[in-house]
Amino acid sequence: MVPRVFRLSGSRLLRGCLGLGLAGLLLAAKPNPMVPFPQDHRQTLVRYAVVDRSDGKSRDLYVSAQGLEALRQGLPLPVGTTLAIETFSGDGRQDAGGRLVRAKEDNQLHVMTKLQPGEGSRVWGFGAYTLDGKPEPVVIEMPGNCLVCHQEAADDDLVISKAMLERFAASGELQYSRCNLSGRQLCTPR
Ligand code: HEC
Repeated sequence: MVPRVFRLSGSRLLRGCLGLGLAGLLLAAKPNPMVPFPQDHRQTLVRYAVVDRSDGKSRDLYVSAQGLEALRQGLPLPVGTTLAIETFSGDGRQDAGGRLVRAKEDNQLHVMTKLQPGEGSRVWGFGAYTLDGKPEPVVIEMPGNCLVCHQEAADDDLVISKAMLERFAASGELQYSRCNLSGRQLCTPR
């Protein structure tokens, strides 16, 4: 017969496991905290690309200086690298060069910051803000809603515009891309 003390500890262990399992589930369901809002991103970050789309949206893409420097040296993006993307709506016209004429800001800044060394979905943190630094009002599941698309760039450290970013790092020339797909569907090649 099993001594009473073992039976007790056994059931305690079971309850403990159930408790931990439940805590794990709750943790998993809790949205990840967002990476910090980059204050004054137009001054503190470097604009490396513009993407115009057939749905009339035009976006500016930004990178922090240390990420750019690492790329120039042929190194992976280091911890602390921040990338950001800001959306504008066109007014339906194009300028002489065929680029969208912007009418207004969409008040949306998407941000990703590398939190740990390495590459891929476990090392980046994400954030979705309005331009005054408040969380984007639409219900967003972080980071899942970002990874849905960014996972497509798994070979490029989740950076969808990696090719443009590398071209900018090498040349210092603002990159431009025109995408004939709407929304943020991935356009290749870039
Ligand atoms: C529907 C697909 C899609 C979703 C969802 C999405 N992105 Fe993106 N993201 C893109 C595409 C495509 C680009 C490249 C620019 C372009 O083509 O408009 C991009 C570019 C970026 C960039 C610039 C660096 C890079 O990877 O090129 C950042 C930063 C970014 N997204 C952050 C986010 C964050 C934060 C979220 C979640 C809140 C998010 N994205 C959700 C498609 C998506």
